[in-house]
Amino acid sequence: MEKKELVYEGKAKKIFYTDHENYYWVEYKDDATAFNGEKRGTIVGKGELNNRISSIFFTLLAEQGIENHFVKLLSPTEQLVRKVRIIPIEVVIRNLAAGSLAKRLGLEEGTPLRHPVIEFYYKDDELGDPMINSSHISVLQLATQEQLEEMKTISLRVNQILTRYLEKREVLLVDFKLEYGITPDAKLLLADEISPDTCRFWDANSKEKLDKDRFRRDLGNVEEAYQEILKRLGGEVHV
Ligand code: C5P
Repeated sequence: MEKKELVYEGKAKKIFYTDHENYYWVEYKDDATAFNGEKRGTIVGKGELNNRISSIFFTLLAEQGIENHFVKLLSPTEQLVRKVRIIPIEVVIRNLAAGSLAKRLGLEEGTPLRHPVIEFYYKDDELGDPMINSSHISVLQLATQEQLEEMKTISLRVNQILTRYLEKREVLLVDFKLEYGITPDAKLLLADEISPDTCRFWDANSKEKLDKDRFRRDLGNVEEAYQEILKRLGGEVHV
């Protein structure tokens, strides 16, 4: 497979065409942003860590019957994925109150939720990614109601699989964000990434944060937290 011209550069990744029309070449970057781009920085080694962490999660999910865009690793910081058109909706699943939910509902961070909470956000930097519901999604024609139902079902299943897998590794899956895409043959497919940039992971015992909140909240030891997650997943950490 050959890497061709840039399709799109996002905050954490670059997407390139390949010489095959059904595949994209993804390069994970060390750049980190938070609060809709207001806070910027570099997390040394993040590109490699997230590339590898994401590939472990996507491989696990595929083994458990959740089809997704991941094909294979290409290098420490690059992976091959199936080409999709990303649906501009961020699906957030929460098991414990944290972040914007804790703030919005006045709940203490770490409060267990009686059942997983599912939320949708409109991926739009200019609007600051507002929370939306199925009615807004319909009006904006972001997805059909059928696609939305499928995204909900898959996301809740992903939550079960990841929660159980991480529990065994003494990691609490507090919340996470998923994105979906549409393949050229019109199939809905789980896409983007699953990493400490897009999930909240807490150590099950100490409740120490092992994710991007360390960067967002200036808690220090950001790289070490990402490395710890890769280590818990059984990946080798190269430093
Ligand atoms: O900030 P908030 O509490 O709404 O985030 C919920 C979850 O979604 C967190 O795991 C966060 O990392 C993830 N998220 C994301 N990208 C965004 C917004 C939130 O990955 N643009």
